[in-house]
Parts: sequence; C-alpha cells; structure tokens
Amino acid sequence: MKTLVEKKAADSLKGRSIIEPDDFSLKELEAVFTLAERIVKDPSRYTGVCKGKILATLFFEPSTRTRLSFEAAMQRLGGSTLGFAEPNASSTTKGESLADTIRTVSCYTDVIAMRNPKEGAALLASRHSEVPVINAGDGGHHHPTQTLTDLLTIRSAKGKTEGLTVGLCGDLKFGRTVHSLIKALSRYPGNKFVLISPPELKIPDYIISRVLKPAGVPFTATDRLEDAISSLDILYMTRVQKERFFNEEDYLRLKDSYILDKAKMKLARDDLGVLHPLPRVNEISAEIDSDPRALYFTQVKFGMYVRMALIALLTGGDIPEVNA
Ligand code: NCD
Repeated sequence: MKTLVEKKAADSLKGRSIIEPDDFSLKELEAVFTLAERIVKDPSRYTGVCKGKILATLFFEPSTRTRLSFEAAMQRLGGSTLGFAEPNASSTTKGESLADTIRTVSCYTDVIAMRNPKEGAALLASRHSEVPVINAGDGGHHHPTQTLTDLLTIRSAKGKTEGLTVGLCGDLKFGRTVHSLIKALSRYPGNKFVLISPPELKIPDYIISRVLKPAGVPFTATDRLEDAISSLDILYMTRVQKERFFNEEDYLRLKDSYILDKAKMKLARDDLGVLHPLPRVNEISAEIDSDPRALYFTQVKFGMYVRMALIALLTGGDIPEVNA
C-alpha cells in the first residue's frame, strides 16, 4: 500500500468481518477504495493475491450480481470459490441451525460471503465463524458491499463522496441498499439527502432518529421525483422490494410509483449521476441507458473491483506494493 496510514488501515482489516458499512473507520474505507482504484487501473497485477484461498458464497436468497461478482472477484485474485445459491441446496432444509452451518463452512474456507432473508443473520454468522464474514444482504437491514460499490462509483463520477445532494427514490422502507448508503454517506461532511418515496414506503424512523439526526445531516422528503430531480448531484433509484411485502395488493399498487424516463431526465442537471443497485424492474426506462448520466452498469463493474479489494484485505492477501 502507498502510505503508512493506508498500510495501517489495511493491516487492521485482516481477519475482520463486515456487517454494516460503518464497521470500518473512514481511514479503513479509504484503504479499500484506494486499493480498488489501483485494481481498476491494472487488474493483471492482482491475479495472484489470493492464490490458494477459498471464498464461500452462502446465498439463502436470490442474487445475480452480488454472488457472481464475489465469485468473479475471488477468481480474478487467483483464489477459488464454493457455496450454494439457494437454501434448498444446503442442510438448512434438514433443520441445521445457521450457527452450525457457518461453523462448518468456516473450517473449509478463508472468507464467507452470506446473504440471508433475516435481519441480523450476518451478525450472528460472524459470531460463529473462524473466518471473516461479509454481509451480502440481511433482509431489509444492510448491504455493505453494495454501499462500497456505490461509494466507489460516486468517487469516480464526482471525485468525492462529500458535499453532495443525493436523492434516494423508490422503496426506502425495505431497500437495504438505501439504509446502508445513507449510513455511509452521513459520515462524510456536507452531504444532504432528498428522500423520494410514496408515504407507504418512506424511510424507517430509526434511520432518521439514529442516523440522520445524530449526525446533523439535512434531509427533505417528497413523493414527487419531478420536483426534486433538478437539485440532485446523485439520483439513487431502487426497485420496490416485492419479496418483503405482506400482501400482493399493496405491491401491485406501489410497484410503478416512479419511472425514470427521458422526460424526467430533461429536468435534471447535466452532471447528475444516476445509480441503481439493480435488478431494475420498471423504475428506469431502458431509453435512458445510453444517457451518459446513467451510471448503473459502470456501478456493476465497480462492484467486482471493490469486492476484489475487500477480499484481498480481509484475507490478508499478498497485495503488491505500489511501484514495486
Ligand atoms: C439489491 C439487494 O439485493 O438488496 N441488489 C443487489 O445486491 N445488487 C437491490 C435489490 O434487490 O433491489
């Protein structure tokens, strides 16, 4: 790593788990991003960093990007992967507890990425694991590696993660990516949020009382994207989280609350960055995919690179020195 500060932050990450984005100090986050940015510039230098190491991907909930980007990341670092993509393929169906599954998998592997529908499952897993656990999404709670992806994308587009007006639009109630991103961006000075959702999908009260208010972060709430869009540096669109609704009627009524299309993009600034954790359903019209302000597929790429950096640091990988 480059500086003594970075080296210290990187050393302190070895063996650690990440359950929420603020499990890492800002210096430690900086070490992750700095390494990710180096990997983006010259990925071929990092192909042996995790040689001989194994990543487990334990996905008790569906995923495309998160699981495959973790696997691609480990393979690109020269390591290998094992795991399952749905709970029916594991001994969970026989009644095995999560604690026992994790204790077992941590005997075979060097790091575990887990997604589980229950809030708090990742924290519990980390308490029973011999190796670092990376929370790849726990119910409607947190998704820290998506946040690392989002922050890296914002850094690359804006050159900073502070002093930004960030609009979050869609399902702010159940969207774990939103909860994690608000928590993370609230730690950088000068950020403001515009919370755009129908009243039924507004941000949980605990995010306001335990995150935004204590940090003194300004925010406004509205249900109209067209009124808010012109003030934004970043627009973070999200899918209405069908799987977390209690009844289908409510989902059907709310699912198309927002559709970002060319007409709405006309109201936005030229330097807006549109992010979405994906998968999208209807909330971003494909007609804006070619708009230079649409960053969601760039974001997908960054997701793999930032996971390469994270895995390398948590497993104490053999990271080449800068200019070595
Ligand atoms: C998100 C998730 O799983 O929370 N997807 C992802 O990891 N990229 C967002 C979503 O499913 O809507």
